[in-house]
Amino acid sequence: MIKKIGVLTSGGDAPGMNAAVRAVVRSALSKGMEVYGIHRGYNGLISGDIFKMDERSVSDIIHRGGTILYTARCPEFKYAEGVAKGKAMCDKFGIEGLVVIGGDGSFRGAADLSAQGVLCIGIPGTIDNDIACTDYTIGFDTAMNTAMELADKLRDTSQSHDRISVVEVMGRGAGHIAVNTGIACGATEIITKEVPYDLEDIAKRMLAKKAKGKQNFVVIVAEGIGHSQEIAEKLQELTGIESRATVLGHVQRGGNPTLRDRVEATRMAYYAVELLENGIGDRVVGIKDSHLVDFDIQDALHMTKPYDEKLHHIAEEIAF
Ligand code: ADP
Ligand code: F6P
Repeated sequence: MIKKIGVLTSGGDAPGMNAAVRAVVRSALSKGMEVYGIHRGYNGLISGDIFKMDERSVSDIIHRGGTILYTARCPEFKYAEGVAKGKAMCDKFGIEGLVVIGGDGSFRGAADLSAQGVLCIGIPGTIDNDIACTDYTIGFDTAMNTAMELADKLRDTSQSHDRISVVEVMGRGAGHIAVNTGIACGATEIITKEVPYDLEDIAKRMLAKKAKGKQNFVVIVAEGIGHSQEIAEKLQELTGIESRATVLGHVQRGGNPTLRDRVEATRMAYYAVELLENGIGDRVVGIKDSHLVDFDIQDALHMTKPYDEKLHHIAEEIAF
């Protein structure tokens, strides 16, 4: 029976990470385990920035964005020496199991630490939803809702001015935020890396729609494409319609988590603690078809995530 576990958040923060931390801590306590919080991801594990948590340590956080444990990217943990330091710190504190809330890079670290004998469980936490072994990652829903609200506001002003509004959303290399936000805000066009596009074709379609009376043109561009300013300039040149570009940026990472993020974070965190309770490590938790699942970390890292092309094409077909 595992008696002491640790919990950390790593990589980019995501709304709902606090709900996951809370559920890890409370689930572990209810199962009679001791829980240690680790500050700033693997940095804190290496340096020993570790503190004992109790039931009140996670009071009043379920609704807050960010992460009370802070987060960091820790290049040192990519190397064996960094992992060895982490293992030594786990031994010093008696930490036998560790819950790592983060993305793929964080899971690579968790796999390396698992190989050293610490039972590690990964929980997918990133606004990008770019983790292949799960349909859902913590923070995705909140980020999309933020992007949608902001794109709605941009539509108001672009409609008033008969402009094109090019809106760049986050997602690193993946277009999951872009396609969903595009659908939800009735975008005229969605540009992601997953689907080939041609600005001249886009401009032609816009002019055809304008000829039929369309006045607002919201173009959602995925971060992986980038160059939003150039895209806006090119569309203005090709269509003669005045264009503005807006990069939404880090606002998409903040804010109170939505209900979905709080619930999924709590479900996955409870499941992660159950795995540790059963002496199981080296796994990533996920959600597939609404069910909780877990995979070997290496297997999970080798999976590829499909892009919802159907959704992309539906958005385009009905945007007239
Ligand atoms: P993000 O996508 O926001 O960077 P990740 O979970 O991918 O989130 O975080 C990457 C971080 O994971 C790295 O900066 C590093 O701190 C940590 N990490 C630990 N071990 C590894 C590893 N073996 N390979 C890559 N990243 C690792
Ligand atoms: O992975 C989350 C994310 O917000 C990506 O969408 C984005 O590419 C990246 O992190 C930004 O990272 P940083 O916070 O280092 O600017």
